[in-house]
Amino acid sequence: MIPFVDLKAQYYSIKDEIDRAIANVLESSQFVLGKEVAAFEEEFAAYCGARYGIAVNSGTSALHLALLAAGVGPGDEVVTVPFTFVATVAAVYYTGARPVFVDIDPCSFTMDPNRLEQAITDRTKVILPVHLYGQPTDMDPILDTARRHRKMVIEDAAQAHGAQYKGRRVGGLGDLGCFSFYPGKNLGAYGEGGMVLTNNLDFANTIRMLRDWGQARRYHHDLKGYNYRMEGMQGAILRVKLQHLERWTEARRANATLYKQLLSDTGVAAPKELPYARHVYHVFAIRTAQRDALAENLNVRGVQTGIHYPIPVHLQKAYAEPRYHAGDFPAAESAASEVLSLPMFPELSRLQIEAVCEGVRNQMSKDSGTAPDGKNA
Ligand SMILES: Cc1ncc(COP(=O)(O)O)c(C=O)c1O
Repeated sequence: MIPFVDLKAQYYSIKDEIDRAIANVLESSQFVLGKEVAAFEEEFAAYCGARYGIAVNSGTSALHLALLAAGVGPGDEVVTVPFTFVATVAAVYYTGARPVFVDIDPCSFTMDPNRLEQAITDRTKVILPVHLYGQPTDMDPILDTARRHRKMVIEDAAQAHGAQYKGRRVGGLGDLGCFSFYPGKNLGAYGEGGMVLTNNLDFANTIRMLRDWGQARRYHHDLKGYNYRMEGMQGAILRVKLQHLERWTEARRANATLYKQLLSDTGVAAPKELPYARHVYHVFAIRTAQRDALAENLNVRGVQTGIHYPIPVHLQKAYAEPRYHAGDFPAAESAASEVLSLPMFPELSRLQIEAVCEGVRNQMSKDSGTAPDGKNA
């Protein structure tokens, strides 16, 4: 069996450090926020090149509070992509605003900057690109358009810890950046977690209050807030794991390189790393019109795969808007029917990658009528 991710393998590789960090939190009894969370905020913000980090209890909460800090509310529009995890769009609805979608660039799977301008209206408050799969969005043209129209930019960097755009880490490129530390993420907690990054002190102060019942002083509630605080245990675990993140990212990148070599003559499209990007391969999504047959074949061979994501958000039942229909976002819709995520995690071995690629080759040669040795069947 080749798992899609293997969280246990990673835990065992750093078990002593993690167990010690957890024991320290138990000793200190700082179970909610506390000094480990404060230290992690500083360390992760510094890692990303941002001034302030505010730790929260999930990536979804990070997006919700970033949008609120940017002043988003009922009647406003937030421009984002339909090809993302549903949380990006759910957070927009939490504020009472509505999403306006821009199709993706089929090569990067991220917001197509050439389509952004036409989506901006007087109601637009924020532009919300998603660094999907660990590939940064092409930010310069998006930031340019946002500046010209005086709109704010919030990055959804939930899948892109350590990814770089033109040499700068994502999450600190826009007005606010949001991360998830869900266990399977490149930097994952042992539970839920998230963070907002910003260089703006007012935003940071507002978000700090909003995550903790709108209080700056205990029981003085100046804002209507939320219980979105990060747990002490998660802060301590994430501090340990942050020390290993670059090494893990390099391992993911090496795995991606090997996958690309072995898949090059199979007929599937492997993910591309754009010239401006350091891709961190949270997800390694290949693309083929025979996606479902391939997933089935790999499953029979004991290879776990995933589909990120089978239905674009504008076609999801809960998020259907009368203004949007099937066919409106052809690049997102076609990606949704063709992408297949292969196993990807730092501890994946060469043998495992070879076995996955052998499975892909087997299925693709069946489909093309070519035997695995290259001869016509
Ligand atoms: C692109 C994207 N945005 C937002 C989220 C939400 O993060 P969380 O699950 O931590 O709430 C996720 C992850 O699940 C995600 O992949």
